[in-house]
Amino acid sequence: MTIRFDNRVAIITGAGGGLGRSHALLLASRGAKVVVNDPGGSVDGKGGDSSAADKVVAEIKAAGGQAVASYDSVATWAGAQNIISTAVKSFGTVDILVNNAGILRDKSFIKMPIEDFELVMQVHFMGTVYCTKAAWPIMTEKKYGRIVLTSSGSGLNGNFGQSNYGAAKTAMAGFQNCLKHEGEKNNIKINIISPAADTRMTGGLMDDTALKYMKPEHVSTAVAWLSSEECNVSGQIIAAAAGFYAALRYYRTEGVSFNPSQPATLEEFASETGNLFDFNHLTEFNGVSKRVQEMLKAKGYT
Ligand code: NAI
Repeated sequence: MTIRFDNRVAIITGAGGGLGRSHALLLASRGAKVVVNDPGGSVDGKGGDSSAADKVVAEIKAAGGQAVASYDSVATWAGAQNIISTAVKSFGTVDILVNNAGILRDKSFIKMPIEDFELVMQVHFMGTVYCTKAAWPIMTEKKYGRIVLTSSGSGLNGNFGQSNYGAAKTAMAGFQNCLKHEGEKNNIKINIISPAADTRMTGGLMDDTALKYMKPEHVSTAVAWLSSEECNVSGQIIAAAAGFYAALRYYRTEGVSFNPSQPATLEEFASETGNLFDFNHLTEFNGVSKRVQEMLKAKGYT
């Protein structure tokens, strides 16, 4: 079975280089009509250059594909609305949205100007919210949509000097955990990619021996599958790098429980922290309310 995107319209934000360019080229090579969105600019979000998006559009066209450039920033509601209308005006609809745009403003938290925290949240997280919000009514009406959000190990796992970036990237998880429910009845599937690849954003950060394998194209394979009709999952997180793919999910420890009629003392609580943090026995986390109700019933409290 060949996976194709004929008659599908895809928007890739931040597609003027790096991972976004690679996603755009792959989708276009398999028949998608692609909006290549990128205002250009430096890794820290300064300046702008329409040639970034133009070059990728030219590459797609030279290979026989269909694409149009968009230079709007995802970081404003008006910009995001323009990106989605570019797809509608050029190709009639939107089926696929890959939220990929991003910048860095790394600094230890103590030295980070609050404006840098806000800007990174605005581009990564609010940019994702704005684009998704603008595309959502179209996907709802047509009862079809594939949305990919871009997270990062820097947030899911944490990294020194990236509290702004890590916060924005992990906010994607909460966003999709709720939207997967809201999109379910209309066949809108929303998933996260957590990539690692050699791009200008990671330039110089990776070990030279690994670098030659860290091609953005490896990540694009997973992104394209998540963007396809064949994608049968929603609310999942795929970590992807150098041909390795793994799915991530939340698990909780067995937990500890005290008499629910009165709060445990601090000392009683402290005496159980060994069990509380015993990660040798894990259960999938799907909220604690149900588990607590079962426990209360089992112990005869209800
Ligand atoms: P990149 O810097 O090559 O790509 C980011 C693109 O986003 C740039 O072309 C930039 O012009 C564009 N962009 C910046 N602000 C924008 C805005 N306001 N509106 C629209 N576009 C904007 O870097 P890379 O590595 O390709 O990053 C792509 C995504 O993957 C980012 O979200 C990044 O945080 C994420 N990521 C990358 C990792 C890696 O190993 N390369 C690791 C984890 C996450």
